[in-house]
Amino acid sequence: MENPVITFILLLWTLAKICFYNFLGFIDNIIPGEWKPKKDVSKDIVLITGGGSGIGRLMSLSFAELGATVIIWDINNETAQGVVKEIRGAGGKAYSYVVDCCDNEAVYKTADKVREDIGHVTILINNAGIVSGKKLLQCPDRLIKKTMDVNVNAHFWTLKAFLPNMLEKNQGHIVTIASLAGHLGVSGLVDYCASKFAAVGLDDALYHELQYTGKSGVKCTVVCPFYIKTGMFDGVKAKRAIMVDILEPEYAVERIMLAIRTNQRVLILPRSLYFFPGLKNLWNPKAVMAFCDLNGSQQMMETYSGRQKQD
Ligand SMILES: NC(=O)c1ccc[n+]([C@@H]2O[C@H](COP(=O)([O-])OP(=O)(O)OC[C@H]3O[C@@H](n4cnc5c(N)ncnc54)[C@H](O)[C@@H]3O)[C@@H](O)[C@H]2O)c1
Ligand SMILES: *[C@@H]1O[C@H](CO)[C@@H](O)[C@H](O)[C@H]1NC(C)=O
Ligand SMILES: *[C@@H]1O[C@H](CO)[C@@H](O)[C@H](O)[C@H]1NC(C)=O
Repeated sequence: MENPVITFILLLWTLAKICFYNFLGFIDNIIPGEWKPKKDVSKDIVLITGGGSGIGRLMSLSFAELGATVIIWDINNETAQGVVKEIRGAGGKAYSYVVDCCDNEAVYKTADKVREDIGHVTILINNAGIVSGKKLLQCPDRLIKKTMDVNVNAHFWTLKAFLPNMLEKNQGHIVTIASLAGHLGVSGLVDYCASKFAAVGLDDALYHELQYTGKSGVKCTVVCPFYIKTGMFDGVKAKRAIMVDILEPEYAVERIMLAIRTNQRVLILPRSLYFFPGLKNLWNPKAVMAFCDLNGSQQMMETYSGRQKQD
């Protein structure tokens, strides 16, 4: 048995650390990101899954503009090639590979090719994602499996491919594009929420594993935005815009870039919902429903149409 006096002192010491870090965190949160020192990414090799469209495309353009070498992984050759052309046209460095991120063997094979062609990836952005947009019992098994495969399982394969070199150097950055749906269950998004909660959990545990094993040089950022106007959630409408509205992709990506470049741990978008994931777990479930009802977040999927082509 440990001496109770030692246990007591340890308790006080832990309490002091909790207060200290929460205070630091609070100060860090009120300082605008624009004022913080931003890391130089001009020597980075950034791999963005799903970089051919939506916020993946905008992140690719932003990183290229900052001088980074951008590698786009997408199942859609045409759009990925389009973004590469756009970047090269503006004088940037970009490459694209056609790969289905759900296919672990294809991920490993393409990762080898990337290392051969370009070099070691220093920033990995797990961004590719899909949504079935169907109520649970209307959702075919195939789509449920696919949603879990793209939105979370694929992260394991890309991590296994690119984390070893980051660990070796104790340097690098893993960015998980999750969603607010990774903190709040939403009607009409049962499979999607499950996959995003899983992605949030993956990031959290990975962060702890890196800290615990002395690899804190590898940074983790998890991004949890509300709906963004990219086409992925076409048709979704808020009953009224109180506190939040559907986000503009340019704004979302501006915040994401800032979070990555300042090594921010968690990014919730919009800011007005910053405390919601924490508060939600303390609240009574009916209180959570009442809050969501303000702008009808549980009804928002009713008008979902999505993109024309759906797979
Ligand atoms: N749009 C939103 O409202 C919103 C909100 C919160 C979070 N997110 C998340 O942000 C991420 C990007 O969303 P977006 O709105 O830019 O979507 P998007 O549909 O515009 O882009 C997704 C990209 O991923 C690619 N992709 C899909 N499956 C793939 C696979 N198996 N392998 C490789 N590439 C694949 C697609 O071809 C596409 O280029 C997703 O993870 C999404 O869940 C989006
Ligand atoms: C992708 O498109 C480019 C040209 O647009 C073509 O050269 C290339 O072979 C295509 N790759 C695949 C895997 O289809
Ligand atoms: C508005 O809706 C979103 C989800 O659609 C929800 O996350 C948010 O909490 C809601 N805001 C308010 C103020 O109810």
